[in-house]
Amino acid sequence: MDNLYQIVASATADFATASESAKLEDAKARYLGKEGSLTALLKGLGKLPADQRKTAGAAINIAKERIESALVTRREALKSAQLDAQLATEALDVTLPGRGMPRGSLHPVTISLDRIEALFRSIGFEVADGPEIETDWHNFTALNTPENHPARSMHDTFYLLGEDGQVHDDVLLRTHTSPVQIRAMLAHAAAHEDLETMPELRVICPGRVYRVDSDATHSPMFHQVEGLWIGENVSFADLKGVVADFLRRFFESDDLKVRFRPSFFPFTEPSAEIDVAFMSGALEGRWLEIAGCGMVHPNVLRCGGFDPEKYTGFAFGMGPDRLTMLRYGINDLRLFFESDLRFLSQFQ
Ligand code: PHE
Repeated sequence: MDNLYQIVASATADFATASESAKLEDAKARYLGKEGSLTALLKGLGKLPADQRKTAGAAINIAKERIESALVTRREALKSAQLDAQLATEALDVTLPGRGMPRGSLHPVTISLDRIEALFRSIGFEVADGPEIETDWHNFTALNTPENHPARSMHDTFYLLGEDGQVHDDVLLRTHTSPVQIRAMLAHAAAHEDLETMPELRVICPGRVYRVDSDATHSPMFHQVEGLWIGENVSFADLKGVVADFLRRFFESDDLKVRFRPSFFPFTEPSAEIDVAFMSGALEGRWLEIAGCGMVHPNVLRCGGFDPEKYTGFAFGMGPDRLTMLRYGINDLRLFFESDLRFLSQFQ
């Protein structure tokens, strides 16, 4: 029986020093395996005299249970040690700041265009669109702009080269959004068979326009928003009201002065420039030109399919780039078109 105590003691010690589960299983085999020392004792039971067999068998079983329980304890200890090690290496620091996705933002001019559209929609204007590559007829002729007008000169307008390498002066990059007036009028007239009962036409057209011009306040590509309201009794007073109200809402300022200064455009008569003056801030008291406008010329109404004896209308063309510069206090137009994210990301 001394032997049994030794076996239990040595098995417990072996298990305790087994540093990983493979070694523990080897140790187990040395005691409980087929060739194991305890198994040998069990096998030897048969050779014992019958009177000793029972007590010896009971003692061996107790020893076996102890070894087995030592084995289970060690197995669990190794398993939890392994889990601890794994947790330590795979540790997740939940206090680390997240990596996050950078948040994009709209271009400042786009923000202004969205605002302008929303403000005009709120008083019943629709938003119309037209091509940036425009015909000479839509851009000039239909807008009552004579052949010899300086805007038609090569120095002012981008004409397009045909595949034959020749300049085609009947197609050009539109120099203003006014050709959309013609397109909108023609589409409106075409959509209403009875020109006598045609409803009012109220559209704005935001878009890109092109001129041969480049400095701190001029870019060869810039934006315009054209406005057009045609009806039976539309007057210059309506133009003044709509534009002044729009500007006060756009700049969120009631103490804003708006002035209509007589001017000339071939497609409007009478014509005016619209100036604004802020009553506070860095630009306080200075008149700034922000749009051209006027009553639609009868010749233009006719080209658009409207009877000038029955209908009148006003039109304006303003510069949203300029409006954006004023709203945010930006002094160089080129910043808008250089795609520098340090500048652009400031307009969330
Ligand atoms: N198209 C003119 C320009 O580009 C602006 C304008 C539009 C003037 C409509 C009057 C009416 O300068």
